[in-house]
Amino acid sequence: MKKILVTGGTGFIGSHTVVELLNAGYDVDIVDNLSNSKATVIDQIEKITGKKPNFYQIDLLDKDKLNELFEKTEYNTVMHFAGLKAVAESIEDPLLYYRTNLGATINLLDAMFNYGAGRIIFSSSATVYGEQKFPKYTEDMPTGRDINNPYGRTKYMIEEILKDAYRAYPEICVSILRYFNPIGNHPSGLIGENPNGIPNNIMPVIMRVATGKTEMLDIYGQGYDTPDGTCRRDFIHVVDLAKGHLAALDHSKPGVQIYNLGTGTPTSVYELVKAYERVSNKKLPHHFVGPRPGDLAEYWADPAKANQELGWKAELGVEDAIRDTLKYLELNHS
Ligand code: NAD
Ligand code: UD1
Repeated sequence: MKKILVTGGTGFIGSHTVVELLNAGYDVDIVDNLSNSKATVIDQIEKITGKKPNFYQIDLLDKDKLNELFEKTEYNTVMHFAGLKAVAESIEDPLLYYRTNLGATINLLDAMFNYGAGRIIFSSSATVYGEQKFPKYTEDMPTGRDINNPYGRTKYMIEEILKDAYRAYPEICVSILRYFNPIGNHPSGLIGENPNGIPNNIMPVIMRVATGKTEMLDIYGQGYDTPDGTCRRDFIHVVDLAKGHLAALDHSKPGVQIYNLGTGTPTSVYELVKAYERVSNKKLPHHFVGPRPGDLAEYWADPAKANQELGWKAELGVEDAIRDTLKYLELNHS
């Protein structure tokens, strides 16, 4: 069987997808520059699956090293997770985001097409929809409008690059997966969301509060036009999300296929906090502060297309994600 190359495979979503790929019998190589993950993830993946993926510490901006890898290994499929994802940082240093996210993808596509790899599955985001009148997003809604940060625009631009690549090379298979809000981790607790530096996303912030590294969770805004006044998001368990990649791979065909990967059910930030307290049986110190600039009040996925065409459905809920997060903290918090 030909190998699958997973870029960003030591990161949060990439590592969980590697586990599912290995469990399904795929042969996996990982490239990652470890800018936001640790090499020890490889050993944890081995503990979970009994298999060790090959790991190459390569920056995708290093064209020569990337081409060397494709020269020595025959890949027909690439799952492309690698990239920078911190919204606030992208506003402070937009060129870093355009250089990294776009540059990495262009280098990767060049290498793929030079060496005959014609299938790519790309990590996109619900952020490409920008702000819509109706917050339940379907894949046919317009994209690229009112995206309020450079990170989000890189996702939109990469989607457009992939569509152009398909127009030029109609034999390639492109799957664009638009993730909603991934949380949780593998139920073993052996891998999880462990970004380098101070996190911005809600679950890693909650984990810092739960372990005393941060005093208090700031809940951004309580005056939104939502049932309890806090923002609502479609939180999807990362294991469900990872399984969505295998479903996309199974159904990949020439063309550009686009799927929302979400649960279809919104949960408010306040409900998430209360669920955390319920499952952990502990108070989570929190208070309300002003809204975070750029946050939308609410949005969630219409996952019907992925449900029907991929035969994939999110099966786990917010409480499962919290239970698995607690297991991760139990094993990894010192
Ligand atoms: P992550 O930061 O945990 O993983 C990304 C990985 O890419 C990291 O291991 C990092 O070291 C690596 N990387 C970054 N730049 C690189 C480069 N130039 N060369 C090689 N490796 C590089 O992030 P994640 O949460 O696992 O996200 C994976 C993908 O999904 C990203 O593209 C992200 O934008 C996208 N996404 C994430 C979310 C989310 O909420 N986590 C939502 C929507 C989309
Ligand atoms: C953001 C990005 C999205 C990106 C994703 C992963 C926007 C509009 N969206 O999603 O493009 O793919 O991160 O990087 O920027 N919250 C708090 N306190 C905190 C942290 C978050 O109340 O300390 C709230 C936020 O206001 C938000 C919700 O929790 O309502 C989720 O936030 P977060 O995890 O950062 O994800 P998004 O902002 O939805």
